[in-house]
Amino acid sequence: MSLIAGRPVQVVSTGMAVPSKTLDNHQLSKVVDTTDQWIVERTGIKIRHIASEGENASDLASCACRRALEKAGVSADTVDMIVVATNSPDTLFPAVSCRVQGIIGAVNSGAMDVQSGCNGSISAMSVGASGIASGLWNRVLVVGVEVLSRLIDWSDRSTCILFGDGAGAVLLEAGSKKGMLSCDLRADGTLCDYITLPAGLSALPASDETVRGKKHFVSMKGNEVFKFTQRVLPGYLSEVCAKAGLAPEDIDWWVFHQANMRIVEGVLRRLKVDRRKSIDNLDRYGNTSAASVFIALDEGYKDGRIVSGKGQKVLVTSFGAGMTYGAFVFES
Ligand code: ACO
Repeated sequence: MSLIAGRPVQVVSTGMAVPSKTLDNHQLSKVVDTTDQWIVERTGIKIRHIASEGENASDLASCACRRALEKAGVSADTVDMIVVATNSPDTLFPAVSCRVQGIIGAVNSGAMDVQSGCNGSISAMSVGASGIASGLWNRVLVVGVEVLSRLIDWSDRSTCILFGDGAGAVLLEAGSKKGMLSCDLRADGTLCDYITLPAGLSALPASDETVRGKKHFVSMKGNEVFKFTQRVLPGYLSEVCAKAGLAPEDIDWWVFHQANMRIVEGVLRRLKVDRRKSIDNLDRYGNTSAASVFIALDEGYKDGRIVSGKGQKVLVTSFGAGMTYGAFVFES
């Protein structure tokens, strides 16, 4: 069952932050054997933001949270919980959420990180929304943040062209009108070798050999991931809509994980949904993993496509290492 029961949960505001440094395809083509044309045709990416030395996930996440709080006109000390989704934390512990809590001065808040591939964004939302619906918390910051540029092998053209750094935050509150309609999470752990970062933890502790073998970097079966999305997501998203009492054509805005434009277009085609209903920004940010859907949401609000209080139906969906996938539907 994926409908959200209990107290109404509302999306109050959003915020985002990206590093000021950028890297476009032409610059990348001087680093690895690739071209702007190949990257644009195969992925849709033109430019990505890359964190500078000393700029960490907690810095970007804190900035995105401050922007969401400012937009809502509420202070950090009124937040009950900060849930951060990330695959590139500053350190494994302490959690990024704890650093954020300290930086923004959310003195009355708890803090936790969720790690679930790019779909961590949806996992974090499930925690935040269900915590409010159950009465546990009243105000929650749900954040996705990545500095994956530090976990990428910059000599591997099959991965280094894809990723960008950034953060997106969503402020949730207990409201009077139902905002969050449903949230669903799935996984297929038999495919856990599709996207991995093999070394540096308990299975393969850091050693000279793991460093020489570049095992501390993201490794991906790109083709398999691509095929997985086309095989699984269209049917799954139809199911998500049906569980929320909706048909795909009832959704006003689709916010897909920004991994590859061909993935988004393929899924929309199979769902028979108008391409123009998708809020995309992959060309300007690349794949920001657990941050991507929240950055796209923030842009959707900022440019006036999503309007608070208008009751538009928005479906947000992601997939990633695990393989995990999931979606949530809310009314603006
Ligand atoms: N520039 C030029 N040529 C390249 C590049 C590049 N950057 N990368 C690969 N190629 C070459 C390959 O070597 C291959 O050459 P060959 O035919 O001579 O062997 C050819 O291009 C085709 O390679 P494919 O891997 O088949 O290319 P494909 O069209 O599948 O695109 C891509 C690769 C972009 C990675 C695609 O498979 C994809 O986007 N997959 C999904 C990735 C994804 O969504 N990952 C999510 C991970 S996020 C997370 O959870 C952390």
